[in-house]
Order: sequence, then structure tokens, then C-alpha cells
Amino acid sequence: MITLSTAANMETRGEIAIILVDNPPVNAINVEVRKGIMEGLNAVSKDDSVKAVIIACAGRTFLAGADITEFGKEPQHPGLDLIFDLIENYRKPVIAAIHGSALGGGLETAMICHYRVAVPTATFGQPEVNLGLIPGIGGTQRLPRIIGVQKAIEMCAGGKQINAREALENGLIDAISEENLLDGATAFAKKLVHENHPLIKIRDKNDKIEEARNKPEIFAEARKAFARSDRGFDAPQAAIDAIETGVKKGIEVGLKNEREIFRKLIQGSQSAAMRYIFFAERECTKIPGLASDTPRVPVNKIGIVGAGTMGTGIAMSCANAGIPVTIMEINQKLLEKGLETCRENYKNSALKGRITHDEAEKRLSLINGTISLNDFADVDMVVEAVFENKNLKKEIFAKLDKICKDSVILATNTSALNITEIALATKRPESVIGLHFFSPANVMRLLEIVRTEKTADDIIATSISFGKRIKKIPVLVRECHGFVGNRMLFQRVNENKQMLLEGSTPQQIDKVLYDFGFPMGPFAVLDLVGLDVGWDKAASKGETLRDVLCEAGRFGQKTNAGYYDYKPGNRTPIPSQYVQEKINELAAKNNIKQRLISDEEILERSLYSVINEGAKILDEGIAIRPGDIDVIWVNGYGWPRYRGGPMFYADSIGLKKILDKIKAFEKTHGNTWRPSALLEKLVNEGKEFKDLHDRHG
Ligand code: COA
Repeated sequence: MITLSTAANMETRGEIAIILVDNPPVNAINVEVRKGIMEGLNAVSKDDSVKAVIIACAGRTFLAGADITEFGKEPQHPGLDLIFDLIENYRKPVIAAIHGSALGGGLETAMICHYRVAVPTATFGQPEVNLGLIPGIGGTQRLPRIIGVQKAIEMCAGGKQINAREALENGLIDAISEENLLDGATAFAKKLVHENHPLIKIRDKNDKIEEARNKPEIFAEARKAFARSDRGFDAPQAAIDAIETGVKKGIEVGLKNEREIFRKLIQGSQSAAMRYIFFAERECTKIPGLASDTPRVPVNKIGIVGAGTMGTGIAMSCANAGIPVTIMEINQKLLEKGLETCRENYKNSALKGRITHDEAEKRLSLINGTISLNDFADVDMVVEAVFENKNLKKEIFAKLDKICKDSVILATNTSALNITEIALATKRPESVIGLHFFSPANVMRLLEIVRTEKTADDIIATSISFGKRIKKIPVLVRECHGFVGNRMLFQRVNENKQMLLEGSTPQQIDKVLYDFGFPMGPFAVLDLVGLDVGWDKAASKGETLRDVLCEAGRFGQKTNAGYYDYKPGNRTPIPSQYVQEKINELAAKNNIKQRLISDEEILERSLYSVINEGAKILDEGIAIRPGDIDVIWVNGYGWPRYRGGPMFYADSIGLKKILDKIKAFEKTHGNTWRPSALLEKLVNEGKEFKDLHDRHG
């Protein structure tokens, strides 16, 4: 075994050399990896006894892409382009041996090799779009030449990954190794040598792109589809441009153009925001003060109280991760309704081809039902997901306390109630935690984990591990009304409603926020959720617009009337004359003089109210880091990923500018705009939110 660099070794097996990259955790291609591969290739080219080279990786995966932490820094020699030239023109076969994932620069490295062998579980992708980028070193050029334009667009513009079977069918790999990968790849390499196979350069293959050369509509249609599915994102469109240029003008022009597009994107604001969120989503599970060796409670069986929308969604999230769950309802009829929701959902997923019928059956078989809490005596975790009624929840927790085993985790899915108080209904408040899922819980990735002052460390650590296991992004927060996400949202909702009274309209506010990048405007969302959710008819005094609309039976889409009007069976919001009249009446009643409000003011008041509250939340220690807040807003509240979340966005606008505006709003609109002390401190010290990340290393 020869050491090539700190991240690669080489061994020879007779006439075959194996360059083994070893750069944990994911073999990202940093300078040491590049040095190692180059050293190895240079050494082998001087050694006549070696006839072929395998590039493989140690650890859990093949090369997972360029090292993202090197982006934006001074490039270090040797660049990947030099290595690619070396491999492509190498005089002996170079074979990529792939396990885990070949992603981004990893897949590009595999494609520059003359041949590729993979294990059956390997996956392949160009996920750069998720970082606001396109493949930078040939992915948009070589991939269509191997798998065709349509599939290359799906992978480069859509970030779609494929498995080894599809890769083999499409010619992306040449063989699947069922045995030990290095043994299989070595045997494959020997065969190439002895049968004198040619050194294949993907750049010379054109048959798969011929058809697209005469069909420009492929690109036009793809652009249209991605403009809809990825509205506002630059990278998918750029990936299509890069593929089209290479198809029309040949690979040399294509490679140069791809490089240029990559360079522009990496310097742009979208990629900066998306790379930031990539790391923030990983950092948020590292909890200062929580030892990494904190014991985890094994979670192999889960009980869920309530078979409503949340309960069934949570149950499916668990079953999707292979964890058996039992849902409890108060009677057989409600239970059956909940189980039917799960059945329907899996049936639809299978019909749409998202999972196989077998997989759907398997997952469904993990979900059972009961009408007795006594069946939770042996579960490892209970998630209570009944409607928001404190007394009911306390009653349930008191019962669970008597029924469940000592080591159980008792979680509530409340989105607003006081968890400390609920925990006090038990004799073990240290075992109680909030697991705030977002609807639909089987789809939305955010999981706010709410700890009380009493929650024990092992319960917190286990909840975070559990969140990751069910493929959520868990963010640990402390308790306050609305926790992090909703508390910030309340500020914006209030501000939006206030702006209606001051002279704006639901449609103007919705358009401004939709254009900013939110998937829907706030009033369209309220109509979708239902104005009556949390509305108390008995307590309603017709003092707010919501009261007035609810009293008139305008509950939103379900009644074809809310902040907007709707035609039956059609979800397109239509501005409502009735609502406008009610707004005007309320404004007059409250002596609010109506005026034209500019789009700019709407945007600033909508976003700065959120940012100011976020700063207060940080100051109070409710959220650990600004990045945690951003992860919450990007994954739970529709903040456009390419704008990085409210705290990142605030830095990009400039905290001084934001503080000045907040102070101006305080003068005109009063106390709700009291600036956060932390925001003032940061401005005084010339700092930004990102400087707070360093507090935790
Ligand atoms: N460059 C630098 N660091 C990377 C990285 C990359 N390309 N990919 C992953 N990492 C780091 C993560 O930040 C994380 O670091 P941490 O442990 O300090 O938090 C660590 O590697 C493990 O990553 P994680 O995502 O937690 O592991 P996973 O097993 O869930 O997923 C991958 C592994 C490779 C699928 C996933 O990390 C991924 O998608 N990476 C990005 C791939 C990519 O976009 N490549 C193209 C780059 S242009």
C-alpha cells in the first residue's frame, strides 16, 4: 500500500492498481483527494507492469461531489480539470468502482473514466441544483451523451437520482458487481485488459443526443415545466441552457459554456443562500451542551394518540422509515376513518409510481389501530396528536403516565399550548417533549422539537435521532407561545391584516409575497387552512376581519368564500367585493384612514416583522442559532430556499437598513415594532447574524 496523499492510498493487485480515496465522511473531492488521484495516475503511467487503474473509495460512499467548503475560496492545485484531462487521455483503462452515491463531481469523475462498475445499491446524481449550481466539470455534457437529453435534464435540472439498475439499463455504468466491489472491479479490469477493450471517451459518443439536435421543443418544454415546478430558481434553467448548448454546438463549446454558467452561479446570491442552508440543515442537529455520547432510548414501537390529519401523517412518516406504529382513537368509526386515510395515501403513492405496490403494502402493514390507551403499555414513544385542547391533552398525559413503561418518551404535537403545563399532568415531566410536526406530516420535512426546562438530555437526544431516522429535519427549540416558527408567523399575519385595514387588499399582499418566492400568498393560505381553525364562535364579537368573515360563514375554500370568493370546484381565488366592503367598514369603525400602500412597504413590513421577532427569539435563547430559524422558515413556512431564510436574508439586506426601518415603523405603528435589543446590539457593533454562529463554534 502506497500513501498518495493524506486522503488517498494505492495498492496493486498484480497488473491492476487501485487508487483508494479515503476522505471521511463522504469522500468530498478536496485538494488532498485530487492530489492523491493525480499522484496515483502519474505513478502508474511510469509502471509498465500495471495495465489498468481502478478509482474507488473507502468508507460509506464513492466521491459525493466537490468539497463545498472550498467553493468561493482561492482554487488549489491540482484542479479537477487537470485530473480529468489526465484520465480521459490516459493510455491504460481507468475504471470507477462505485458504492454508496456518485454525486456531482463524483459522478463527473466516474463519467470521465473509461468504464464504470457499481454495487447494486449504488445511486447516481447531479444534485448541484440543490445548491443553486449546475455541474461544473462536464456533467451537463457527458450525461446526455450517455443517457440521452430527457433523462439528463431530469438529473441535472431536477436533481433526480437513479439507482444502479437504471444506471446499467441506460449505459451509465457498464457492470454491476454482486460480489465484493474491489474484487468485482479488479476482475472487470483484467477482462478489459486481456480482451483488449478500447479506452472509451464519452465525449466521442453522439448517438444519444442526435434526436434532440432536431427537436428544440424538448428544451422549450423542459424550461416551461421547470419554470412552474421551480419558480424563481435560476439553476434548473441554467442546467437546461448548458445541456442545449452542448447538444447544438458540440462538446468543446458545451464544456466552456458550462464552466462559464457555473462560475456565474457560484458568485450569485442564490447559490450562496442554498449552500448556507445545506450546512445549516446539518448544523442544527448539533446541540451545544448535549454530549455526543448521550444515551439514546431505543425506539422500535410507537403509539400515536389521534387518527386525524396530524396523527395519520405522523404514523405514515414512522411507517415509511420502517417503524411499527399503533394509532389510538376514541371509537372504532374514527379509527377506521384514520386507517382509511393511510390506506388511500399509500394506494395513491403506488398508483403514481412513487413507491411499488409491495412497498405500499409493507408500510401499511406497519400501521395498526386501537381504541384503548392500555395498548401503549409497551411502546417506546407516544406522540399525542389530538386537537388543541389543553385539558384534553392533560387528561391523556395523566393516563399515559399510568400506562406506559418507565423509559417511554411522551411527546405532544401541540403547536401552541404550554408543554410544561401538559408535562405536569404526569409524574415524569423529564420524559415529556414537544414534537411539532407540520401538515401534511408525511410530506413536510420540518420537525420543531420543543424542550421544556425539565426535559431530560436522553429524551432530547433520542428525539433528534428519531427525527433524522424518519427523514425529518429536526430543530431543537425552547418553549414560548408559538415556539419559533409560529411566533414569527403571528407577527407577519398581524401585520398583513393591519395593512388590509390601512388600504391594501388581500390580492396585493398575496402577490407581493408570492413574487418574493413564497409558494402562496398569506391570505390564500388562510383560505386553504380554514379561517375557522382556532376561531371561537361563542367568543366572537365581530371586532376583527376574521370574526366578521367567520360570522358570515366565510371559512375559506371549503365554503367557497373566505378572504377571496371561489367558484364551486375551483380553487382560483377571486377578489371579493364583499370582503372589501367589510375591510372598509372595519377601517372606518377603528378610525383608520385608508391610503395606497406601496408593494415595497408591504414587503418590508411583512419580512422585517418576521426578522425582528426572530432576533428577539435568538436573544431569549429560544432558538440556538440564526441558522436554526432559517432552517425552520425554509422547510416549514415556504421561505424561498434561494433566499436562505429570514436571518440570512436580513444580513444580505444589511442590518442597519432593517433596524432604521423598524424604528420608523415603531414611530408610525407603535409598540409591535419595538426593535429587538439583539438587533440594535449587532448594528452598534457592526456585526451580522452570521457572526452569532461562531458563538457555538
Ligand atoms: N462537501 C463538503 N462537505 C460535505 C459534502 C460536500 N460535497 N457533502 C456532505 N458533506 C458533509 C456534511 O456537511 C456533513 O458534515 P457534518 O458531519 O460536519 O455535519 C457530513 O459531510 C455528512 O453529510 P450528511 O449529509 O449529514 O450525510 P448523509 O449520509 O445524510 O448524506 C450525502 C450524504 C453525500 C448524500 C449528502 O451529504 C449530500 O447530498 N451531499 C452533497 C452532495 C452534493 O451536492 N454534491 C455536489 C457538490 S457540487
